[in-house]
Amino acid sequence: MITEEQVRNTLKAVKYPGYSRDIISFGLVKRVTVTGGAVSVGLTLNSGNQDVARQIKADAEQALRALPGVTEVAVEVSQPSAGAASGSNPWSQQNRVPGIRRVLAIASGKGGVGKSTVSVNLACAMSHLGLRVGLLDCDIYGPSIPLMMGTREKPTVTPADKMVPPMQYGVKLMSIGFLIDGDQPVIWRGPMIVKTIQQFIGAVEWGELDFLLVDLPPGTGDAQLTLCQTVPLDGGVVVTTPQEASLGVVRKGIAMFQKVNVPITGIVENMSYFVTPGGERVEIFGHGGGKGESKRQNIPFLGEIPIFTQIREGGDKGVPVTVSAPEEAPGKAFLTVAKAIVEIYK
Ligand SMILES: Nc1ncnc2c1ncn2[C@@H]1O[C@H](COP(=O)(O)OP(=O)(O)OP(=O)(O)O)[C@@H](O)[C@H]1O
Ligand SMILES: [Mg+2]
Repeated sequence: MITEEQVRNTLKAVKYPGYSRDIISFGLVKRVTVTGGAVSVGLTLNSGNQDVARQIKADAEQALRALPGVTEVAVEVSQPSAGAASGSNPWSQQNRVPGIRRVLAIASGKGGVGKSTVSVNLACAMSHLGLRVGLLDCDIYGPSIPLMMGTREKPTVTPADKMVPPMQYGVKLMSIGFLIDGDQPVIWRGPMIVKTIQQFIGAVEWGELDFLLVDLPPGTGDAQLTLCQTVPLDGGVVVTTPQEASLGVVRKGIAMFQKVNVPITGIVENMSYFVTPGGERVEIFGHGGGKGESKRQNIPFLGEIPIFTQIREGGDKGVPVTVSAPEEAPGKAFLTVAKAIVEIYK
């Protein structure tokens, strides 16, 4: 005798296409009926994407047929008309920040892999593509966005006590760095982090944005988890270097998002390789580790960023390469990743 619970447990093996999360935990399975050996399941998607619906239906049917005792399987998928609703995103609109279409966090398994560099350049690349973008620096230990974006302008405050984020290179910015003085060390306790981040979301006039990118502090500990739970995230981008990927450090970043049920947008491999002035490609840390891991984990691979002196210089000068030379090789690498992300959420 098959039970409804067995059916639901079986469906937990069916992942939402492109995500590491299953269709049960996304709350898509609305109805399960069992009559003898006949199992009938009803799913409702938020997305109008036909491919997603087909894939989920096929995977669910296959999983259920493999269940001992099942003689008949019917999986019915209902969804809004194609192109309507929220593209391929499985999340409902509930916890959204009004006016902001997508909130994506940038994380990594460990520090120094270029998270902030990637965040800054992705934001500027998206702005270059004509999108409305915000960049929120949540690095409570060492906010580097003000330096990399070349501004120390503090937010102004409206009569209604809302902070107006300064705009630089077409990107609206908020950073803990704007609110603390110079090198003053900050000791953050959990409740302070939550309160400050809540204000960054609720008390900042972001206006209408296509994407709000959130640069997280290095690591995957409690502070990072708290941040991920405080900001209503639509996705997480994991930055890795080939070396970190081969050591499996990238998995920590992936696991962190999974722990707090944030769908993984994809992996970016930074510092992939180095091109000598003579045009020779040198793979300093090996190559392709990020792509390999994304295949193993069935997560989108968003692209690779080579090592370019201009990228570091751009960060130090406060003029990202995606602003100074968006169509040259270093800038183009970020544009490719930005386009891959836009494609996922279109
Ligand atoms: N593709 C690249 N080519 C050249 N230099 C890079 C590249 N990516 C990052 N860097 C440089 O590496 C250093 C570390 O980068 P970044 O500060 O972005 O890392 P992070 O992961 O944010 O670090 P943290 O963990 O401290 O927050 C910076 O000096 C940056 O300019
Ligand atoms: Mg950083």
